[in-house]
Amino acid sequence: MKSMISLNCKSNLLLKSLNVFSKRSYNTLDAWSNIPEHIKVKQGRRLFLQNGHPLCSLRELLQQQFKEKPINIVAKESPAVSTITNFDSLGIPKTHVSRSKSDTYYVNKDTCLRTHTSAHQLEEFQNLAESKMSKKGFLITADVYRRDEVDASHYPIFHQMEGAYLWDRNDKGSMLRDLESVKLDNNLQKLVIDEATLENHDDLQEVYSSKETELASIHLKNSLTLTIHNLVLMTPDSGLDKSQVRYRWTYDSFPFTQPSFQLEILWKGAWLEILGCGVVRENILTHAGIQNHVGWAFGIGLERLAMILYGIPDIRLFWTTDDRFRQQFTPNNITTFQPYSKYPLCYKDISFWIDESFTANDFFEIIRDVCKDLVESVDLIDQYTTKAGKTSLCYRVNYRSMEKSLKNEDVDLLQDNLRKAMASSLNIQLR
Ligand code: DAH
Repeated sequence: MKSMISLNCKSNLLLKSLNVFSKRSYNTLDAWSNIPEHIKVKQGRRLFLQNGHPLCSLRELLQQQFKEKPINIVAKESPAVSTITNFDSLGIPKTHVSRSKSDTYYVNKDTCLRTHTSAHQLEEFQNLAESKMSKKGFLITADVYRRDEVDASHYPIFHQMEGAYLWDRNDKGSMLRDLESVKLDNNLQKLVIDEATLENHDDLQEVYSSKETELASIHLKNSLTLTIHNLVLMTPDSGLDKSQVRYRWTYDSFPFTQPSFQLEILWKGAWLEILGCGVVRENILTHAGIQNHVGWAFGIGLERLAMILYGIPDIRLFWTTDDRFRQQFTPNNITTFQPYSKYPLCYKDISFWIDESFTANDFFEIIRDVCKDLVESVDLIDQYTTKAGKTSLCYRVNYRSMEKSLKNEDVDLLQDNLRKAMASSLNIQLR
């Protein structure tokens, strides 16, 4: 996104009062409220703090990578934040699709469940300012929430880690020293493809010199390449030829960083996105009370990285209470997931007429509520519109438990309940 950030909040004082407001209004429901039961029952599991859980180990291992840096390490509790915190404080435009009710869980019009850990950037930058910059950055871990499709890599609750690191612009020496400490050796350098060097980038933040932006970007890319590579080196040798692993930096765009980058990893022959990052917009820093600093921020999805490093094939496994999953893992180690069994798949199709109010995410929410974690994926397999303009959709619902074989009658009952729930809560006509 190239547009300049437009912050609605004019002062830290205003922001603080809004944070309090978001907690107070948690019980006030309105036409925006859309948090379903399946979210309420899982909220508070805090998988990333459960010793031995792969998400907890990954958080620890990532934190260890930053242990030389003077930073605050934070775990966030309540996921309910004001929309100002989640969107406006980061310059996310009012019209951005991520604000829609079909993409985000709302407590009410003014309060949502955070959709990313970036929601806490401003607050944590304020904490740095209040401590007179005795720390230079932070690492935040939290659960985040998004309404999304149903498949092996999407789950409505997942976890992110957000990091940031800053330098005083008057202290050029410290940036140069820090750069020395994240130099890549020749062997690692050969594994990195940088398609996002700044030579041809004509839209940098004007407040910073191009040298400052370049040095911050190099420090960012090197720090994150080293971090991820060190984790890759910790993975077991079986099944992976580490000499085939590559890292690729490309441009991205986020309203809160400029320039913005993405890191991809070539893993078992496929390029996979693993994180977004960039040079922090200077006006976010000044709003937080930090003057004359430059620095970077990144956000990384823990499930995605854990699925890669541990070879975990389905995101639902992170939530299982089956001992055969949990007992495979030891704290702060990366081992390859051993599938205990693959239970049979059973699919059922469902067809219905829709009107313009239909959004697929509303349908997926009902599936998650009715069928819990027993649906592996949902695919749109047919769609047509009649001459009269009526549209019909046909979805295939793929049922598979991760813990047992599902009986036919169990699946029939689930499908029946699903049909009933759809007919009563969506504007659709079942066929
Ligand atoms: N919040 C972004 C997301 O959820 C990730 C991200 C991108 C975080 C760039 C950052 C950043 O701090 O600088 O997709």
